[in-house]
Amino acid sequence: MDYVDFRSDTVTRPTQAMMAAIAAAEVGDAARGDDPTVNELERRAAELVGKQAAVFVPSGTMGNLVAVLSHVSPGEEIILESAAHMYNSEGGAVSGLAGAVVRPVTAPSGVLDPDDIAAVIKGEGKDNVARTRLICVENTHNAAGGTVTPLATMGRLHGLAAGAGVVIHLDGARLFNAAVHLDSSAADICRHADTVMFCVSKGLGAPVGSLLAGDDAFILRARRKVRMVGGGMRQAGIVAAAGLVALGDPYAQARSDHCTAGVLAAGLAAIDASLVVPQNVQTNIVNCRLDAFPELVPHFAVRLKERGVLVLQSGSVARFVTHRHIDEGAVERGLAAVADTLQRT
Ligand SMILES: Cc1ncc(COP(=O)(O)O)c(C=O)c1O
Repeated sequence: MDYVDFRSDTVTRPTQAMMAAIAAAEVGDAARGDDPTVNELERRAAELVGKQAAVFVPSGTMGNLVAVLSHVSPGEEIILESAAHMYNSEGGAVSGLAGAVVRPVTAPSGVLDPDDIAAVIKGEGKDNVARTRLICVENTHNAAGGTVTPLATMGRLHGLAAGAGVVIHLDGARLFNAAVHLDSSAADICRHADTVMFCVSKGLGAPVGSLLAGDDAFILRARRKVRMVGGGMRQAGIVAAAGLVALGDPYAQARSDHCTAGVLAAGLAAIDASLVVPQNVQTNIVNCRLDAFPELVPHFAVRLKERGVLVLQSGSVARFVTHRHIDEGAVERGLAAVADTLQRT
């Protein structure tokens, strides 16, 4: 069957321009700093986020892990939102590999409340507590439905962290989606973070890779950790070339994906108002709530799949993500599948 795939923006396949860039890529041994295409991608990434330097890594998970390894010693604490990708979906790496003590703080909207954070930061002092070293902010927040942390909130978090000698790491897997929603730039957001990871392999459409950026001293430490976890790559210019195409205009696809998500959300709400509040959809993720259809919850994703539509379901929330391969026709197919599934319950 020919499926419409709403599961994630990670399913995007490289564009023709990316394939051409891959074929023409100049390469070298990236782990020795010899790959000109990787070097150019790292330079461009640092420029876009307004940091001194960046390092190219195979995945967002590795970028986040390397950030934690570079900022935190075993037994020190990191603060994370309790539905954060780094906490729930990266194999426990921050504890299992970096030895960090995790302090989850709940924010159902995905936007950390600076007052909640101020209440749990632990500074120097007693030697029986895990000292807080790092706050991780996820912007946009995946599980909360692609929600965006406003610049003012980022600023408050950064201010209170700096006052306590704590560092902010931004999990910006979908950083450019956040920037588009804020009508701002990636650099404006990253001004309020010490380090940032963003992915070229999601809505930006490149096949592989993420960039971790920060100041020169941080990136020097990070490069050692990348080698430690096996992320040192050789002729990685092959994939970096596609990343460079993605970073030509990293905002354009996000703008289009957000419009598509808006149409999808409005269509779902027209089928049944309980499914989604369109005004709450900020970027390219639409969380469709099935609370009004408990009998459907165990089967919803399966029923949609039978109708050629793939979504990711977790409990009573079905996630629809818009991306390069989701056009008007795909949205129509998705909506028709949902309407049909609801009608037959
Ligand atoms: C918010 C967020 N952070 C990090 C990652 C990890 O990226 P990767 O799949 O490249 O490891 C993801 C992946 O979906 C994500 O959504």
